Amino acid sequence: MATAVAAKGLEGIVAANSGICWIDGDAGVLAYRGIDIHDLASHSTFEETTYLLWHGTLPGKTELEAFSKQLAAARHLPPQILEMLRTFPKTATPMEVLRTAVSALSFYDPDEKAVDHDSNVRKSFDLTAQIAVLVAAFDRIRKGKNLVEADPSLSHAGNFLWMLTGEKPSETATKAFDVALILHADHELNASTFAARVIAATLADVHSAITGAIGALKGPLHGGANEAVMRMLFKIDKEGADPVEYVGKMLAQKKKISGFGHRVYHTEDPRATHLRKMSEDLGRSAHNAKWFEMSRKIEVFVAEEKKLNANVDFYSASTYTTLGIDLDLFTPIFAISRIAGWAAHVIEQLDDNRLIRPRAEYIGPEYPTKYMPIGQR
Ligand SMILES: CC(C)(COP(=O)(O)OP(=O)(O)OC[C@H]1O[C@@H](n2cnc3c(N)ncnc32)[C@H](O)[C@@H]1OP(=O)(O)O)[C@@H](O)C(=O)NCCC(=O)NCCS
Repeated sequence: MATAVAAKGLEGIVAANSGICWIDGDAGVLAYRGIDIHDLASHSTFEETTYLLWHGTLPGKTELEAFSKQLAAARHLPPQILEMLRTFPKTATPMEVLRTAVSALSFYDPDEKAVDHDSNVRKSFDLTAQIAVLVAAFDRIRKGKNLVEADPSLSHAGNFLWMLTGEKPSETATKAFDVALILHADHELNASTFAARVIAATLADVHSAITGAIGALKGPLHGGANEAVMRMLFKIDKEGADPVEYVGKMLAQKKKISGFGHRVYHTEDPRATHLRKMSEDLGRSAHNAKWFEMSRKIEVFVAEEKKLNANVDFYSASTYTTLGIDLDLFTPIFAISRIAGWAAHVIEQLDDNRLIRPRAEYIGPEYPTKYMPIGQR
């Protein structure tokens, strides 16, 4: 029997070679294909960033146009999927709907079982376009509204807001949403990406890998945290509580505060830097900085009290609320972005595949333990 002690939660374990994303958790650095996230957030677009993640280099003008065109062409759903969305209970959460619908999309993929490079890239275009359509379409269906067709003149970010609201989004809203998509697009071997790679490595199809990733993202310790942050802010507001006292009580009860802490960053999460500013700017320009101000008080307090930094989910909550987006769409929106990273990792995994099959440190009853027939137990 082995005697090594397993790292709980695989903390600090390097489980893959990857050329996609680099994080320096001590210095607070995040880079996609070597390019700093601050540069991408300031100058890039979600389309360009996705190209970078999938192909390894920034696109030229013609390449970017072709890429955006292929994405636009995929921005629709098979009618059977739309029909299926209509049969789901209106009470189903958008994240459950997304998980189920992405799985069902494989029925309508012409080469569902293919796992060669070109098929994987083609499926990545389809899923990146379709996930955004699915989230917008289900929200409109559950609200009894007509569906809104994608507009090929709009960006991926602009299209999502358009398909969701049926109103042409402002430049400010489109820009803010686009930056949020860039910031969430990839994050090395986070739980959902690892899940996607493990599934892909069995040579299961891309849809299976992405369905599994969506399941992993849903949890409140991962992507579900942005929704949990907003639930807390709404509760504080409804009760008229003081945010610092409220959070202080939670800490005294040893509860975790959603939106704080990170397995890899020991300093400010560089994505939070942008989202904090975005939350403030959007709040102030909408003359409603309430959610930002409440968040800021909590952030300062938690930093002092627990030495914990806000992570990507903390300010995305107030940012999306200020953009008028419903709370239960926050985690699906994370998926609308993270599909770019999931796809990049699935493509990379399958380009040089080996089954991912680690070992467990056995801590059960001693071997051999005698089998007792049922009558003698
Ligand atoms: C992200 C997270 C899951 C990382 O977990 P981890 O690396 O396993 O760290 P742990 O849960 O073991 O936490 C280490 C210590 O910090 C504390 N801690 C970590 N995050 C905390 C939080 N958000 N609120 C309060 N305490 C926290 C833990 O209670 C633990 O304290 P202890 O050593 O006294 O028991 C964790 O920080 C967390 O649950 N955060 C809230 C959920 C969240 O925002 N998730 C999104 C991540 S992007």
